[in-house]
Amino acid sequence: MKRINIAIDGPSGAGKSTLARAAAEKLGFRYLDTGAIYRTVGLFAREEGVDPSDREAVSGLLEKIRLRIEFDGQGVQHMYLMDRDVSREIRLNEISGYASRVSAIPEVRAFLLEQQRQFARTSDVVMDGRDIGTVVLPGADVKVFLTASPEERARRRYRELLERGQQADYDRVLAEVQARDEMDIHRAAAPLKQAEDAALLDTTGLSPEESLDRLLAIIKGGIGR
Ligand code: DC
Repeated sequence: MKRINIAIDGPSGAGKSTLARAAAEKLGFRYLDTGAIYRTVGLFAREEGVDPSDREAVSGLLEKIRLRIEFDGQGVQHMYLMDRDVSREIRLNEISGYASRVSAIPEVRAFLLEQQRQFARTSDVVMDGRDIGTVVLPGADVKVFLTASPEERARRRYRELLERGQQADYDRVLAEVQARDEMDIHRAAAPLKQAEDAALLDTTGLSPEESLDRLLAIIKGGIGR
């Protein structure tokens, strides 16, 4: 049976994962957070003491990494690294930079590509990332490019860090958001960009509920439901 694939791309902090997860739940689809996979590779680089920008060294890690995606009874994604559940660790602020750097390495992207495509072949899925509509699933049924202004994204990220009990400074978070945008947009391998056939959804100034309503309207319009 042909599976339905929804691709959601956009910069960090645009609310992709929250919205994609909520949309998947409403539709009864799986939600796959592909950033979590890059974060797991980033965490591995840190644990192995490897410079995440060192292409050769990071490529070497791919030969020994054991990475697994599992879903619990609630459909929540868990990432396993060397058989250890690292789902919480990969969310540490420090790992964001590692993930961004390893994700710029073509060998890392190639290594993770087939796994992501296989997932989409076997499940109705809402997949979020940076290159889902452009590279991973160019034939996706619906593509959405979800964004918000850098300041709004930094505010959301700042609040999220405080809620998790992590130390945070707004100006620093904003600088990190901008630096990460720069890296994600200007990298040579699968840079962040809106697919030509993607619908643009800018959530600046929208509440989470309004954002979800708009996202669902785009998706339902696209799959004719
Ligand atoms: O969405 P996130 O912040 O968890 O993603 C972490 C990093 O991984 C981010 O810097 C960009 C990268 N990434 C990517 O290059 N391609 C994807 N499909 C998903 C994430």
